[in-house]
Amino acid sequence: MTYLDHGATSFPKLPEVRRAVHKALERCANPGRGGYGAAMEAAKTVYGCREAAAKLFECAPEQVVFTANCTHGLNIAIETLVKPGSRVVVSGFEHNAVTRPLYARKVGLTVAGRRLFDWADTLDSFAAALKKGADAAVFTHVSNVFGYILPVEEMAALCRSAGVPFILDAAQSAGVLPVSLKKLGADYIAMPGHKGLLGPQGAGILLCGSLPKPLLHGGTGSASRLQEMPDFLPDRAEAGTLNVPGIAGLAAGIRYVSQEGTAAIARRERRQARYCAEALKNRGFRVFSGEHQGGTVSFVGKTDCEELAAALAQQGIAVRSGLHCAPLAHESAGTLDTGTVRVSFGYNACDAQTRQFLQGLDGVRA
Ligand code: ALA
Repeated sequence: MTYLDHGATSFPKLPEVRRAVHKALERCANPGRGGYGAAMEAAKTVYGCREAAAKLFECAPEQVVFTANCTHGLNIAIETLVKPGSRVVVSGFEHNAVTRPLYARKVGLTVAGRRLFDWADTLDSFAAALKKGADAAVFTHVSNVFGYILPVEEMAALCRSAGVPFILDAAQSAGVLPVSLKKLGADYIAMPGHKGLLGPQGAGILLCGSLPKPLLHGGTGSASRLQEMPDFLPDRAEAGTLNVPGIAGLAAGIRYVSQEGTAAIARRERRQARYCAEALKNRGFRVFSGEHQGGTVSFVGKTDCEELAAALAQQGIAVRSGLHCAPLAHESAGTLDTGTVRVSFGYNACDAQTRQFLQGLDGVRA
């Protein structure tokens, strides 16, 4: 199989990630719940991952909260910052993981910047929306559908100078682009562990710039007499037993990314995305490509997107088609009715993958 669906999850998982998960299953009990060897081993494993993440994302280990996934982190952040009925600014490229929790809170939504790959439009619209008055902002770093890299440093600066708290959705950027809690000054940055960070599914991270409101209440192995959740990080947002094997695998993924360097991974992915976009254009497809694009390319042909992806799957090519849980992004790009076929490269991006994809595509069209 030629796997080009890293936007959905990184695959295959690295041998060192698999080994770390296995080792945790063999050696780890429950962290923070005992002083015996296996519980201490679990605590050490979890803390090791916190430290590795803190180093990569420029924050203190305590500011790294483990979640089940990016959506979980976004829900904690939104629950903390967004009051029902308030006004929230989002970009035109948000995923349902952002828009659905906001919709559930019946907020007044301002969608700012709907032009793909156009930083001037994104920034002008975002600044204008903040000027009109906003209680919070939530925006994605990279569109999961189109690979558009938003100017988040500038958007963060606009929020800071307007005094508007903000949340960054780093679902597609963590492990691929620089993400710094310190530099962005975000209130919260949510990310999955299984995409660019190369860990297993079921472990994500919420970086906390301020104390979150707990979404889950329960045991933390700390301050047990209290009936309220502890008022310190990370315990405040980590009720219940952590996913220790997942966190162990995530630590191995973060180590790989840190050693390899996000810049090198991003370069590799972008090179293939450009190669792929050009080849698709030459074959007459409508391709969404431009400046400020990462390792993801969406395209539309004459064939229905779902059918094309199914035919590609028959040829051993794994891509994702449809709306990619991001109807807002498709609405912005004018593809809400058709959807797109998405090709998303990952840590192992190489020429051979693009060639195999194009061969598969040519086989389908023949
Ligand atoms: N949000 C993931 C994707 O874009 C699952 O495919």
